[in-house]
Amino acid sequence: MTEHARALEQLSGHLTLCRPVPGDHARLRQALTDWWDGLGGEAGAQQRRLLVPRLWLQHFADTSFLVERPDQTLHAFLIGFLSQTDPRTAYIHFAGVCPEGRREGIGSTLYDRFFATARAAGRSQVRCITSPNNRNSIAYHTRMGFQLEPGDRIDDDGVPVHGDYDGPGLDRVCFVREL
Ligand SMILES: CC(C)(COP(=O)(O)OP(=O)(O)OC[C@H]1O[C@@H](n2cnc3c(N)ncnc32)[C@H](O)[C@@H]1OP(=O)(O)O)[C@@H](O)C(=O)NCCC(=O)NCCS
Repeated sequence: MTEHARALEQLSGHLTLCRPVPGDHARLRQALTDWWDGLGGEAGAQQRRLLVPRLWLQHFADTSFLVERPDQTLHAFLIGFLSQTDPRTAYIHFAGVCPEGRREGIGSTLYDRFFATARAAGRSQVRCITSPNNRNSIAYHTRMGFQLEPGDRIDDDGVPVHGDYDGPGLDRVCFVREL
């Protein structure tokens, strides 16, 4: 594949749905830095950047998507994969929409596209996780039909949390959605 993102489909508002390529890595790093409303400060931004190394664009591009503006700048992305271990499952690793592009249906367009890809590959459920302090993500995933999996405690807002899920202090909220 070339280093230029490959167009899949024109979306409304002159946006283009594309396949990512390794050359998109730098702008994804920038999005992971800038699009999370400062969540976790610089440590949080560094954690997010390290969670999306180049290998995702080299080896998981067929189940991942970018949205580009007419000037080819990045508007949104979704990084996902089909589980190698559990043949029922597809997994959304990371997704983001630029702050000025939110609440316009782009997140749900990306998710719907991923659900269709997962269904076409015979998958019957989609899983993902988020941080307990990412309240927008929890609200969004709930709106997108995900169930919150029981955790080992319930936080003050009634959200089930898996303590130390990804290591000491790295609590997570786990979602599953049947397809
Ligand atoms: C979460 C995110 C991807 C949602 O993208 P989006 O393009 O704004 O979502 P959509 O416009 O497609 O919204 C889909 C539905 O979710 C709802 N929704 C979206 N964000 C919401 C929020 N913060 N609170 C409550 N509902 C929300 C919308 O109202 C819509 O519901 P509707 O169908 O009833 O109208 C985006 O806000 C984002 O990138 N946030 C920062 C990064 C992040 O947290 N990523 C997710 C974790 S990896």
